[in-house]
Amino acid sequence: MVPELAGRSHLELVDRLAVKALNEAGVNLSDIELFAGTVGPGLVGSLLVGANYARGLAIALDKPFRAVHHVEAHLWSAELEAGKLPLPFLVLLVSGGHTLLLRVDGLRRYTVLGRTLDDALGEAYDKVGKLAGLAFPAGGEVDRLASSGNPRAYDFPRAMDDGSLNFSFSGLKTAYLYRIKALPLDVVQNDASDLLASFQATALDSVVNKVRRAIRSEEPKAIVAAGGVAANSRLRFMLTDLANEFHIASHFPSRKLCMDNAGMIGYLAWKLEQSGITDPADWPVRPRWPIESLIQPAGSFS
Ligand code: KG4
Ligand code: ZN
Repeated sequence: MVPELAGRSHLELVDRLAVKALNEAGVNLSDIELFAGTVGPGLVGSLLVGANYARGLAIALDKPFRAVHHVEAHLWSAELEAGKLPLPFLVLLVSGGHTLLLRVDGLRRYTVLGRTLDDALGEAYDKVGKLAGLAFPAGGEVDRLASSGNPRAYDFPRAMDDGSLNFSFSGLKTAYLYRIKALPLDVVQNDASDLLASFQATALDSVVNKVRRAIRSEEPKAIVAAGGVAANSRLRFMLTDLANEFHIASHFPSRKLCMDNAGMIGYLAWKLEQSGITDPADWPVRPRWPIESLIQPAGSFS
């Protein structure tokens, strides 16, 4: 992805997109009571276009604007369809840019239990997908091909277990690359489904094992997955099984709400507003913005 081109493309599309969204929802601009936009973390050029577009509409229509943290919006995205989630819940946030395991005790009451030490899980999917000749982002296609492959056909090394809840995918990615390079081209092509299924099984086993350990220590009422990789069919299946094992609920946003989307940004803005939590309206856009900076001690809000 070229950041400058992405920003320019946002600028070209944002107006048409807003008109289309209003038409599809059957809503007039004047009906909107609260405007929101994400200000990070992400690509600054793209964030500036979206956030300033929404901010501009809010100013023109004399309505409030709320700046939203995009990762925080993922944490609550399952509530869009499932309704209020029981607290505490665990969230596995897996996307192209983030791999985080968090405990959620309420709005702004988050504990980061683990995070990736190197690549994000979605990034690993995209890289092995690229090696199989798939277009970016490759996760959806890897998921589809892997579902018809044998997950035990190839043996890949598991990430070393250091006893923490942190993740690591770069060793697996490198092992995959060397394995492919050592195989004749026709085998790589004919065995694509088996190779991808074996990669996926290794990556997801290590992720789900960490989630299992976190459920044991945190005793949450529910497990939630969010972010683009949460659309993955095997991951959803494994987490559902895990939740059943512990007799707790599992919630996954529908696939389109797993990916970055405006629905979750608007929902969190509304939820914060309802809870009386105000943030500075002039929060600047930020490429990096650790979720920890939002955490408030227990009892800060009613
Ligand atoms: O949350 P998202 O839309 O964007 C950010 O990265 O913030 O996530 C995109 C990522 C990409 O890496 C894509 O390959 C991956 O999610 N992805 C999947 C699937 N669908 C999307 N990975 C595995 N299985 C899927 N079905
Ligand atoms: Zn995201």
